[in-house]
Amino acid sequence: MKRLNRNIVYLNEVDSTNNYANRLIATDCVKTDTVILTKYQSAGKGQFNNTWQSASDKNLLFSLITQPTFLLPEKQFLISKIISIAIVQYLSDFSNLVSIKWPNDIYIENKKIAGILIETIVRGSTMDYCVIGVGLNLNQKEFDKSLPNPISLTQLINKKIDIESALNKIIANFYTYYNLLKNNLEDKIDSTYFDMLYRKSAWHIYKKDKTTFEAKIIGIGQYGQLILQKRDESVHEYYFKEVEFVI
Ligand code: BTN
Repeated sequence: MKRLNRNIVYLNEVDSTNNYANRLIATDCVKTDTVILTKYQSAGKGQFNNTWQSASDKNLLFSLITQPTFLLPEKQFLISKIISIAIVQYLSDFSNLVSIKWPNDIYIENKKIAGILIETIVRGSTMDYCVIGVGLNLNQKEFDKSLPNPISLTQLINKKIDIESALNKIIANFYTYYNLLKNNLEDKIDSTYFDMLYRKSAWHIYKKDKTTFEAKIIGIGQYGQLILQKRDESVHEYYFKEVEFVI
């Protein structure tokens, strides 16, 4: 297996790779672009204080430490777009049913295959550090009944997947788009992300405050807001958790 030409911390077990990355940053002697890779997390973190469950040595669990000091903090959703694109590009070699469920869940049809948790450290108006945590279900065949709609790559293609090869490809894809960002080519990132969106440009049911309505996604705002157009042609913007997809 070709090893990545960057710093990788290999851990058999850790509470959470994001926590480990944050502790490393706190020591002040962390190298940028370091990857923390583990086989098992005893306290994996999901979005909004949820947990991230993953059987031992089955899936890809990592955090990438970057220093996007060139990026204004209000533009940080671009990092979320880039890592989502990187994962979709990797999975697209196996399936043409992969998409990004706004803002950054990775789906195969109507099932979730990967989750992303980004934690940033902003100093003044500078993005000092960004910890990009990824959990991608690769070889796990059974999931806890409490999880709403999980899927793994092996369930889709019935083959064992090499975890480190997945990591290498995703990191390479990430840096392709990260370099575009450094070179101010945001439009390419925006259009690629939009093209990969789940349920884009078609009528679907959404839910806000217990009320359901039909709408279609017509864009993504610069802070990552979901822009929906309703049947009466009115346009509405929603931040994360302000609106739900009805699946
Ligand atoms: C979500 O969809 O809720 C986000 C899940 C993110 C999980 C990954 S696994 C590696 C990294 N370490 C964590 O504790 N969480 C992220």
